[in-house]
Amino acid sequence: MTLIDAAPGLADISVARTELGDVRGDEGFYHYGPYPATELARSSTFERVWFLFVHGRMPDPGELDAFTQEIRRARVVDAQILDFAHTVARSGDRRRPLADLRTVLSALAAHQEFGPMWDSDEETRRRDGIRLCAMVPTILGAVHRAAHGLAPVTPRDDLDTAGHWLHAVTGAVAPADEARAVEQYLIATIEHGFNASTFTARVIASTGADLPAALCGALGAFSGPLHGGAPDRALDALDAIVARGGPGMTPADVGGVGRDWARDELDAGRRLMGFGHAVYRTRDPRSDLLREVAQGLGGPMVEVAVEAERAVVEVLAEARPDRPRYANVEFYAGVVMDRCGLPRDMFTPTFAVSRVVGWTANVIEQSRDRHIIRPRATYVGPPVDQPV
Ligand code: ACO
Repeated sequence: MTLIDAAPGLADISVARTELGDVRGDEGFYHYGPYPATELARSSTFERVWFLFVHGRMPDPGELDAFTQEIRRARVVDAQILDFAHTVARSGDRRRPLADLRTVLSALAAHQEFGPMWDSDEETRRRDGIRLCAMVPTILGAVHRAAHGLAPVTPRDDLDTAGHWLHAVTGAVAPADEARAVEQYLIATIEHGFNASTFTARVIASTGADLPAALCGALGAFSGPLHGGAPDRALDALDAIVARGGPGMTPADVGGVGRDWARDELDAGRRLMGFGHAVYRTRDPRSDLLREVAQGLGGPMVEVAVEAERAVVEVLAEARPDRPRYANVEFYAGVVMDRCGLPRDMFTPTFAVSRVVGWTANVIEQSRDRHIIRPRATYVGPPVDQPV
């Protein structure tokens, strides 16, 4: 049988059908179901959009209220699991909140008996999905606080998801403008096509495994810097530009300093974190949205970021005029999160708080199609004629 050779990285190959959304790389556009995603981020709430991913349509006010109550109840995590989260977070010196979350989710799967999706009905999967997604911010907040010697906070039942997340991490109720900025980021990052983590989650779901297993796989794929693990590195890059400019650098100097910095990084063979995208061939609409959000919040880092973005894009275009690259979602994400008081090691976890809703929707969609995803590989090793 002759195999079809796929493009490296499976680029531009469609491997599934989905009703959840799509990314149109040439247009710089993505959508959730029938709605432009950045418009939802500008005008809707995280809970409404979460409902859309669970039910495939927007809720009426009564449904939204019931859904919101369900989420608020589900975010309370069992004391035994919180104790375990504490132990996990305190083991070792290096802080790795996403790895801690994976470990806790695995424990949760056994503790709360999440069975194989192969055996469960749609309603059980839906309920389990809401439960898990609602617990993720509580668990991540607890591992973060444990790592810093702090007790977990008790979830409040008067906060929406963004407010709950900020409270779970910082222990304080955030000002409304910061909670709204984080909420817009969360809405904009729920789903984004067949990226590495979503694909991973769907492959695991296609085996009939349990939901936490699929989410743990997705989290693993998500932890790498080429996918979800870049917003802290993008902010490190801004710090490097500021350090290079020295204390007297004015916003007008940032462009020149940023260009020099970016050229040196490229010459050293390094990637500029927060720039480039596998699918967008034009601007990443999430980056435009988050620039707006950052500018709405204001602050000295925002001005630096706007100038630095322009400089880096120019240098990337100089280096590859045939293939311009722009700021991706991660560039302004770091600026927004920093401005809202989230520590750097919680940037990628913040992304996970929203993306877990998208992964879950993908996993549940995949579990309806009872076929395993099982591609092939072309053997290119030595001829098979060696005596054993
Ligand atoms: N800095 C320097 N060079 C880059 C960058 C960058 N940010 N992005 C792409 N390139 C280079 C690639 O190395 C490649 O070079 P080559 O042709 O010599 O091998 C060339 O540009 C073309 O790459 P693309 O096809 O545009 O991008 P690809 O699909 O391979 O990678 C990726 C996309 C991984 C996002 C890449 O742009 C990158 O590494 N960016 C930096 C890391 C980052 O910001 N990650 C977060 C992504 S957003 C998200 O996942 C949520």
